[in-house]
This record gives sequence, structure tokens and C-alpha cells, in this order.
Amino acid sequence: MDDCREPEQRALGPGPGRAPVGLGSVPGSVPGQGALPGDAAPVGSVQGPVALPERLAPSELAAPTPASGALPLQLPESATPAGPTPGPAALSAAPPAPPPPAAGFPDSIGQELQRRLAGGAPSRLAEAVALAAGHLHLLVGALRPSAAEFRQALGFLTELGHHSDARRQEWVLLADVLGVSALVEGLNAPRPRGATPNTGAGPFYRADAPDLALGADLSRDGRGERLRVSGRVTDLAGRGLAGARVEVWHANAAGLYENQQPDRQPEFNLRGRLRADGRGQFDFLTVKPGGYALPSDGPVGRLMAALGCPLERPAHLHFRVTAPGHETLTTHIFDRADPAIGRDAVFGVKPELLADFCARRTRSGAREHLLDLNLVLCPLARPGTDTMGGK
Ligand SMILES: [Fe+2]
Repeated sequence: MDDCREPEQRALGPGPGRAPVGLGSVPGSVPGQGALPGDAAPVGSVQGPVALPERLAPSELAAPTPASGALPLQLPESATPAGPTPGPAALSAAPPAPPPPAAGFPDSIGQELQRRLAGGAPSRLAEAVALAAGHLHLLVGALRPSAAEFRQALGFLTELGHHSDARRQEWVLLADVLGVSALVEGLNAPRPRGATPNTGAGPFYRADAPDLALGADLSRDGRGERLRVSGRVTDLAGRGLAGARVEVWHANAAGLYENQQPDRQPEFNLRGRLRADGRGQFDFLTVKPGGYALPSDGPVGRLMAALGCPLERPAHLHFRVTAPGHETLTTHIFDRADPAIGRDAVFGVKPELLADFCARRTRSGAREHLLDLNLVLCPLARPGTDTMGGK
């Protein structure tokens, strides 16, 4: 059946009557994402949620200062340096009058750390460390982890590093599933009305994808239903941006990226960099991507499984578009019909990014899909806005 005879050029946006996409969680488990059968958890791996002390009410966990209920940490007697060495408050050389305890440093060690940080030149780094350490001390004071739990947390962080290399980035995955990547994108890349929204690049991006000619086939193994993509890169006024660079990468029909299967997919399968023509138009062939679940064989996957959180991602294509004088656009285009469209594990779905992958039959009877889209860039608005340009 041909249900997409003449795909219109359509802007990616919430059409009339389309409801915003909900981003609720999914009750129950995600197929294939549970604990690995017979897989003995390595030291430091996440084995289950950490129980909170019963005496802490939920409201106390959100308290920003010790006055609102956080439990102060005191340096244990056994940890205090012996002999004539002065206590923590005197560790700084001839400190001036100690500043009053600041919010975010509810314990004496944290307050000493603040004094040390305040001794250096003010900087963005010092500000970040002070704020991060303050929240970390508050967390420890509220959660009161045992020594074993602390070792488990350190082991988890160590395992994140062991699962990160040039092909896989477990740290990015952690930031994604905790919503931090989406939050940072939202804070740093607010787009004006009409511009295609930014999203995170995700953990499977490769900056070394090959340059391809317009009309090229991104599929190097030919597996999957054919997808024909056409589109244009424009500015906010709808003018085509000649020569814009369009990077594309996506999963195969089974929902797996080539860098997840280096032994089963050809190098750079379903990846490429195109150069739009003089009117900002581009097109390429590929195969229809499948939705997928984030990797469950690493520490992040085990963490989310232990928490009962979904790892699903609805089917999508990734794009990164650059054009002189415009902010780099990194975004997804999602298949509106995907059943997981309302429960994206990394919070990337936005109404403006939903598109129709129109199915039809070819003369030979094969099933293929058409996707037509506009990618709208906004001009460089302020210095430092574009952190990805030229990369
Ligand atoms: Fe993806």
C-alpha cells in the first residue's frame, strides 16, 4: 500500500491538533534490560538501591543548608591528626578571620575545604568545585553511607571509566539517563521560535565519519528496509544555507550502532557527512532505523535496571549541522509512530522533532520509507554560544 505518495516538505513542528509528547516513565521492566542471568556482579557494581536512613524525611534530603535538617558530619576522633598538629580549622597558614559557614558546606570538613578554596584566585573552576563539593557533602550527610556503600560507589565510578574508550562512552551514558545532558542542552542552547531544537549527541557519535556525495547510500551492508531522506538546511527566514555540512548517524534496523558491533557491522555503517547544495538541499539513502535500548551490559545499564527505569529509545536519526555564521545544530529526528516515543530514556524527544517516516511499496513490492525534513538553524547570537562549530 502506498500511503505516502507525495511527501510534502514539512517543517518539523507540532502540527495542528498534535498533542505534546509526554515524557513519563514506564512501569515494569524493559525487555532485555533486566539483570544479566548468571552474571555475577563485579566488585563495585550496582546491585540495588541504597536504603535511606529511616530517620530522614524526604524533605530533609532536599534541604540546602544544615539548618534545614541535614546531618552534620564531624571528623571522627581517630581521624584527627595526632600530636601537635593543629585541627582542621588551623590547617591554612595564618588564616584571616574564618568566614561564616556557607550554604552547601554543612560539616566542619566542608567548611575547611571552603576556606582552602577561598584562598586561591576566584575562578569558574573554584566556583564549580565549591558548589559540587558542597552538594556532595550535603548528600553524604543526608545519606550517611556505610564504608561498604562508599566503596561500592567508588567502584561504580571506577567501572564507568573501564567501560569508556574511543568507541564507547559510559560517562556520557550516565549523564544522559540522569537527564543531565538534556538539562545542559536546554540551558545552553535555547533556540528561537522556528529553529530546530538542539539535543545531545549521545554516546555513539563519531567525529571521523567519512565525507559522502549527495545521494549516497549510508548503508554499507544493505540490511533493512530502504529509507530515502531528503531535506534542506535553512535560516530562520527560510532561506537555504548553501554548502551547510550535514553529519548523519543512526542505528541499524535492529537498533544497534556500528561502534556497538565492530565485528558485525562494517566500519562507518550508517554514518556520513554530506555537503548541502547551493540551495541548502541534501538527500541520501539509508535503511530505516529501529528503536533500541541503551546498553545494559555496563554499570549504567545495571544501575537503571536496579532502579526499574526504562532504557528504551524510540527510533531516530541523529544530525549535526554546521553553516558559517550560524549556531551548530545537533539534534534527533524521531519516528512519530514508534511505540516508545513517550518514554525516551535520555529525555530527548520534543514535539518539534517528531517526523513521519512514510511507508510505501516499490514496483518490485519491496517496502520503503520516505522522510522529508527541514533543519532550521539560528544565527550566532552571542560569543561562546557555538561550542561545536568547526569540529
Ligand atoms: Fe541514537
